[in-house]
Amino acid sequence: MRTVRVKASTEYDVLIGRGLLDETGERLKAVACPKKTAVITDDRVNSLYSERVVKSLEASGFEVIKYVFKNGEASKNPQVLFDILEFLAENQVTRSDMVVALGGGVTGDMAGFAAAVYLRGIDFIQIPTTFLAAIDSSVGGKTGVDLKAGKNLAGAFLQPRLVICDYETMDTLSEEFFADGVAEGIKYGVLASEALFEKFAEKKAKDELEDIIYECVSIKRDVVFEDELDKGKRQLLNLGHTFGHAIEKLSSFGITHGHGVAAGMAIAARTAEKLGICDNDTVKKIEACLELNELPTGTDFSAEDIAECAMADKKRRGDMITLILPERIGSCRLYPVNKDEIAGLIGDCLKKESR
Ligand code: GLY
Repeated sequence: MRTVRVKASTEYDVLIGRGLLDETGERLKAVACPKKTAVITDDRVNSLYSERVVKSLEASGFEVIKYVFKNGEASKNPQVLFDILEFLAENQVTRSDMVVALGGGVTGDMAGFAAAVYLRGIDFIQIPTTFLAAIDSSVGGKTGVDLKAGKNLAGAFLQPRLVICDYETMDTLSEEFFADGVAEGIKYGVLASEALFEKFAEKKAKDELEDIIYECVSIKRDVVFEDELDKGKRQLLNLGHTFGHAIEKLSSFGITHGHGVAAGMAIAARTAEKLGICDNDTVKKIEACLELNELPTGTDFSAEDIAECAMADKKRRGDMITLILPERIGSCRLYPVNKDEIAGLIGDCLKKESR
């Protein structure tokens, strides 16, 4: 097992190992002693993994209640959030109890947001069951739901008390969902580590899962330590996301998060080349790495539609939107642009063959 210690407004461990689900109770007991634990999960993860988690929690003496919602991004909305809050209230969950987010990014974001606002904040832990949640959304304390205008537009920062990452759960992920995590992993490589990028460029994600999760979480730990509230450096973690979120939304979420981010990253790389920020070799490496991992390198949606959706980006400040552009593999920069410039800027960068 590997451990990453995150130092933010609260400190906590990210435990990374195989078979950790069966140790949930004892691992939780080592950091907190809630009376009641409210497991929040989706129907798919419920049928695969919640029995083991519940059994472990009960064996450690915790009372367990469970709320199950329908899997998928469509559930990440204010109604389901309020259903979770009502469930917590009906079951008389108090400030000394604990929310347990068991699942992928949708579950972690929504259960975390429920914990952040219920009784003005109770503790929660994250048990990510997707590669994407393991390396990104379960760490760093961003929680939230989507609004009609765009993704994650309502939310709060609340750091979990513990993250238990049992990567055995990734054995049951479809290739498509595993690839979502690969896209986020490639993002960390482009942002901060050529060596990590090379692992994806050699398609080693499945063979070196524990090391890769450890490396990605360590990069995120360092960024969150410097900028927990996303006012500066943390925005770099959104490489590929402004365009990616737009692509997800324009596809009515038929295109999943990682696939949108992959396309967004390639668009950002070609835009960076056009602006003289990176060279063509960097663009080619990113495109080839995405292709090898069966991820998209572009989109058929129009530059105007993408620019319009980008208006709802969280990083927008007035008329300015900060794009994240690669300088080379292992280094990116923040690049603020006026909202009216975006369509013109990316118009000839949307597809690999378009430049
Ligand atoms: N997923 C980006 C962040 O946590 O800042």
